[in-house]
Amino acid sequence: MKLAVAKETSPGEKRVALIPESVKKLKIKGFSVAVERGAGEASFISDKEFEESGAEIVSAGDLKNADAVLRVRPPSTQEIDSYKDGGWVFATLDPINRVENLAAFEKKKTTAFAMEFIPRITLAQSMDVLSSMATIAGYRGVLMASQEFGKFFPMFMTAAGTISPAKVFVLGVGVAGLQAIAMAKRLGAVVEAFDVRAAAAEQVESLGAKFVKMEITENLQDEQGYAKEASPEFIARQKELLHKHIGKSDIVITTAQIFGKKAPILIEDYMVKSMKPGSVIVDLASETGGNCTLTKHGETVDVGGVKILAPANITSTMASAASRMLSKNMENLLVYLFENGQLARDFATDEILKRSLITRDGALVSEIVKKATGK
Ligand code: NAI
Repeated sequence: MKLAVAKETSPGEKRVALIPESVKKLKIKGFSVAVERGAGEASFISDKEFEESGAEIVSAGDLKNADAVLRVRPPSTQEIDSYKDGGWVFATLDPINRVENLAAFEKKKTTAFAMEFIPRITLAQSMDVLSSMATIAGYRGVLMASQEFGKFFPMFMTAAGTISPAKVFVLGVGVAGLQAIAMAKRLGAVVEAFDVRAAAAEQVESLGAKFVKMEITENLQDEQGYAKEASPEFIARQKELLHKHIGKSDIVITTAQIFGKKAPILIEDYMVKSMKPGSVIVDLASETGGNCTLTKHGETVDVGGVKILAPANITSTMASAASRMLSKNMENLLVYLFENGQLARDFATDEILKRSLITRDGALVSEIVKKATGK
């Protein structure tokens, strides 16, 4: 089976879908790998390193020879037009927002696999790109906050007096939130956290942070482990509680998201205004709308001395680490799906294929995408 790694084309995208270490492993498993010239450059991987790992360096026009194209971000319709008829593509496809690609897949009879739709099941843990990228976002988000914050994170007892530790509040405790808690604790902050999923409390406490409790009368976790949309009554009660904690926090890291939907608004203007000047909010949910009313995706805004950071594509700020994790996820997935160049799993019964395929031989098969797009 011929794989081809495409060079990312989105502005500012520095990651690459496969690194040389995975090329070596995939070659042992019988895959051949082509890499578009310069694909690894922004992650500090040269064409030479790819060649030494056994990959062939090709130009964009050669993607048509691949049985499967591997990428990080969704391809353009023009790129899909250049694919071989009946090939595969593996990428974070964002199929609900990139509907124009569905027609292009149909035309080329492409089997399109959305990496972000891989189910959160034990079997697929090693292929889970959302967890990989959320790990980076949580870690980096805290470091970004520390750069903007004009005070120390840890408590210091110095000759110049005792300095109290920073108070960090993490909203939404999935993978990114847990990583943010761990990082803020490592830096010595006092950390509180909140999530609508009751199961998160134990995880927060196991990291040595305090879980902010609220009486939860609705079941807000679906069978996949994701949060469900809360009722307006719940959100109103939640805001009242959060207001008290946000007002006394130095740093707020927000990560709350609901799969396939707009992120919930948890921080209103008045809550930002209740924070001390010099405080920092990092909104890690800004890609899906943000958790704060004043968030501007990709920008840092200053509201009366409170900075609100909403970094775009935060994972590209750590492209080497991000590419390494994505590559391992991709490698694990390909080795799971194919044997001797043939698909070794059943479309009808395999849980990963059933959930993650958007199109099969060009035909739209994803129920989630059908429902969301009306196609
Ligand atoms: P996510 O990125 O979809 O959301 C982040 C967090 O925001 C979640 O914890 C969610 O409960 C929370 N949230 C949503 N609405 C909120 C609100 N109104 N107020 C406060 N918090 C709110 O979550 P992520 O990181 O993708 O994880 C989703 C679930 O999947 C979690 O239960 C996680 O533990 C689970 N998971 C399971 C894996 C596995 O078993 N293979 C791997 C990774 C995650």
